[in-house]
Amino acid sequence: MSETESDGEGANGDTGAADDGSADGDGTSASGGDVANGGDGVAPVGVKLGSTRTVVVYPSPDGEGTEVVRTLTCLATYEDVLTGEERVLYGEEAAIEYPDTVEFMLRSGLPEDDDSAEAAATFFRELLAANDIPENSAVVYAIPTIDNEAGLANLEAVIEGSSIGGELVRSYPESLCGSLPAFESQLDAIDDIFVAINMGSTNLEVCAYRRGEQLVPLSTGSITGNEIDRRVANYVEEETQGRVNIDLTTAREYKEDHADFESFEPFTDVIQQPGGGSHEFTIEDSVMDACDEYVDEVVDEVANGFLPELANSHMKVYQLALEKPIVLTGGMACLPGIVEEVETRLSDELKRDVTAIRADRPDLAAAEGAYEMAGYLASNL
Ligand SMILES: Nc1ncnc2c1ncn2[C@@H]1O[C@H](COP(=O)(O)OP(=O)(O)OP(=O)(O)O)[C@@H](O)[C@H]1O
Ligand SMILES: [Mg+2]
Repeated sequence: MSETESDGEGANGDTGAADDGSADGDGTSASGGDVANGGDGVAPVGVKLGSTRTVVVYPSPDGEGTEVVRTLTCLATYEDVLTGEERVLYGEEAAIEYPDTVEFMLRSGLPEDDDSAEAAATFFRELLAANDIPENSAVVYAIPTIDNEAGLANLEAVIEGSSIGGELVRSYPESLCGSLPAFESQLDAIDDIFVAINMGSTNLEVCAYRRGEQLVPLSTGSITGNEIDRRVANYVEEETQGRVNIDLTTAREYKEDHADFESFEPFTDVIQQPGGGSHEFTIEDSVMDACDEYVDEVVDEVANGFLPELANSHMKVYQLALEKPIVLTGGMACLPGIVEEVETRLSDELKRDVTAIRADRPDLAAAEGAYEMAGYLASNL
């Protein structure tokens, strides 16, 4: 089935965020070492079912560190030629082999209706079947901050109805889970006050945390990774005078593989032309123009939308939070150099110095943080 902790062998240009690739490779991470199995061998499991990718973190069977499953959140079905039965594929395999029929059932961030809830349940069941994830476990899963009770109830049903989490299932906001690995103190950071910006594919979420409580949560679907992919595709068309049209998957790959605020290099690609022959082209501006706009829009939303509201409702918390680093989470926080860009532009906008941090792997951080919480809960069962 799908790869465990894919290293870029997927069709989707999985690059991994950290420039040092620290969490790549065998999928183990040292940070999980201190999470002991709870009483009676209850294993902690951290889950993040995202609209683009799903990440699951659980203890290595050999007891050393953790395993990380990272896969596209998609399904395809086909008919078994021998038995005529319907078969299911998920993740990278499904996306590569069945691009015409593959279904990303959480496209909008949550399972909205019965069909997508059922598809999400099938996806999760297949993922669990393909990996050695303990059933006798305490599961913490990350949830988006979004006013959608039906969608959240559907997501809960998917996790509760799965084979794992026999001992306990609990959800926490994705940006809280994703913030913990950014702090050295990890779990202790729950007791702090800080601002988190979660940069996802379908939403930008901003809120302040006060000992785990969300203050002034804001969520907008207009500043998103998906929107940046659309712009990259449009700008590529403009930059090549209409000669090159790329689809959104290719646009996402360009962004994930090439965008870099510190050392972007123009890159070339080739398209096959309908009459035969190929056309080679170079992209100089399209990717970084789109990413530049993204950071400007994030900074504008935080400086002029979120922070004034926080200051209005919780002045003291506002002051305390801005003295601390702002935590960037979510896949878009992987962009090399984005931490410094946000720091500089937000400091300019606010006319005071603010700092920012992120986890080594912001794309894995929500599941890693959920795993830390699950470990704590498991040891207190
Ligand atoms: N290494 C990377 N470099 C740049 N962008 C990345 C990288 N990895 C992931 N992304 C982008 O991050 C976004 C996905 O982020 P994330 O996994 O946090 O979203 P999500 O939780 O599924 O979405 P949402 O919560 O908005 O519904 C996508 O736009 C993806 O292209
Ligand atoms: Mg998200």
